[in-house]
Amino acid sequence: MDKQIKQMALAAVKRSGRMLKKAYTKFNRLDVSLKSNHEILTKADLMSQEIIIREIKKHFPGHGIIAEEQANRESGSGYVWYLDPLDGTTNFSMHNPLWSVSLALAKQDELIFGLVCAPMLEDIYTAEAGQGAFLNGRKINVSGIRQSKVLNLFCHGSKDADIKKAMAYCRRQKLNQLDCRQLGSAAIELGYVAAGRAESYVAPGIKVWDVAAGVLLVREAGGRVTDFKGRDWRLGGPNIAASNGQAHRQILRAVGVK
Ligand code: IPD
Ligand code: CA
Repeated sequence: MDKQIKQMALAAVKRSGRMLKKAYTKFNRLDVSLKSNHEILTKADLMSQEIIIREIKKHFPGHGIIAEEQANRESGSGYVWYLDPLDGTTNFSMHNPLWSVSLALAKQDELIFGLVCAPMLEDIYTAEAGQGAFLNGRKINVSGIRQSKVLNLFCHGSKDADIKKAMAYCRRQKLNQLDCRQLGSAAIELGYVAAGRAESYVAPGIKVWDVAAGVLLVREAGGRVTDFKGRDWRLGGPNIAASNGQAHRQILRAVGVK
């Protein structure tokens, strides 16, 4: 992969991270607007998006961009960026440091680069197709943990059906496994699976910008990412199950229960 792509992405995300960190420390919970009855938006989401999109357009004007808070930009170049300028906006708004910036690049619909930056944790995850996954420059791998010590993570989209599915999954895992937690940032949750800090992540009704970078992290760290039927997850797929591989069969069984 072109070195320039990685350098531009890192510089842009770090710049937005610095802005977000400042905004986070003085953020007032009342300064949010509602996108839907389950989703909020802050000025920080929009500012972060502006910083990163400006850099992409400057360096790669022919590339497409699909970002959470803007109309999508198609392109004929075969390259598309997937951006969540602030993943975990609710955490951000309540002064919970688990929020991140997630940026991925796909070429002809195959992920080739992923970057998740969690400024308050000082964690930067990167992955390049075929080159492995890294946390702050150190190679990471999924855990080898199976059965009784498995820690599961999950989240969900905003439709009622997705929330119900996620709640049923969480209930089942809580009753049968060590734990099942919702950390509130899909990108960080996938980073945790990649780094062996947790064993699985399941989400019905997720959006592509939430997970594109994290999917590459998990795959490059040796994990598995599928839909709920066990087929390889493809860009834009609404349902996602990611794991260290060992836990995969069990999580698919648990999310399949009505
Ligand atoms: C949200 C987070 C959350 C997930 C939601 C996402 P946002 O992203 O990733 O963990 O449960 O489905 O929308 O809105 O904070 O960018
Ligand atoms: Ca977001």
